[in-house]
Amino acid sequence: MGEALIELKDIYKIYQMGDEEVRANDGITLTIYKGEFVAIVGKSGSGKSTLMNIIGALDVPTDGSYYLGGEDVSDMSDDQLAAIRNRMIGFIFQQYNLLPKLNLLENVELPLLYAGVGREERQERAMKSLERVGLKEKWRNMPNQLSGGQQQRVSIARALAGDPSLILADEPTGALDSRTSREVLDFLKQLNQEGNTIVMITHDNSIAVEAKRVVRIYDGKINFDGEVEDYAAII
Ligand SMILES: Nc1ncnc2c1ncn2[C@@H]1O[C@H](COP(=O)(O)OP(=O)(O)OP(=O)(O)O)[C@@H](O)[C@H]1O
Ligand SMILES: [Mg+2]
Repeated sequence: MGEALIELKDIYKIYQMGDEEVRANDGITLTIYKGEFVAIVGKSGSGKSTLMNIIGALDVPTDGSYYLGGEDVSDMSDDQLAAIRNRMIGFIFQQYNLLPKLNLLENVELPLLYAGVGREERQERAMKSLERVGLKEKWRNMPNQLSGGQQQRVSIARALAGDPSLILADEPTGALDSRTSREVLDFLKQLNQEGNTIVMITHDNSIAVEAKRVVRIYDGKINFDGEVEDYAAII
């Protein structure tokens, strides 16, 4: 099945709330290979964001092991986590998370700035990335001068700028109307066809079925993991 990019083994994330234990992730084992397009789906409170934070090296599990691109992430320091995030992951968020006081080019440059790329190369790569999402001409614009769909495309350009090993999208169409959602999903599919590995988090089955493989979380555990055709047949 090729080369593993994400290897989660017996992942637990447990929150102590007074006397009560909340098992937000309750023993998750999951391998995702390079070039896959995986949807992680589940209803509210099932543990998706918790898992996304672990996969995205934004947080570490209480227990279990996580290898990203062969590197052991499970007990990295905050600085080490930030470094591997910058190097390997492009994030796409529901609310775009563009900085309002920076123009589009500067927004797309940000991950490259954090990665220590020099100014000239940074601008060149960011411009190329904006071109890929069809917004090159608007590079001087500010985020609030764009439609929601355009802003999401800028955030995709930002995710792509660093040439990440993994694109991690959290409810990427959550704030968009159906036509614009379609555009963003088609674009993610295209990126996957070009060889990018994509993990998309969603609570929405109609979005999940756009991926090739679906992993469903229920109460912090995986209760389905398979091809999208098999998933479509049971929902
Ligand atoms: N920091 C925290 N402290 C305590 N409990 C938490 C914390 N973060 C999450 N939880 C709990 O863990 C469980 C899973 O939460 P999580 O945010 O991962 O769900 P989700 O699937 O992303 O839900 P949604 O679709 O609503 O975003 C929930 O019961 C939640 O209340
Ligand atoms: Mg969530």
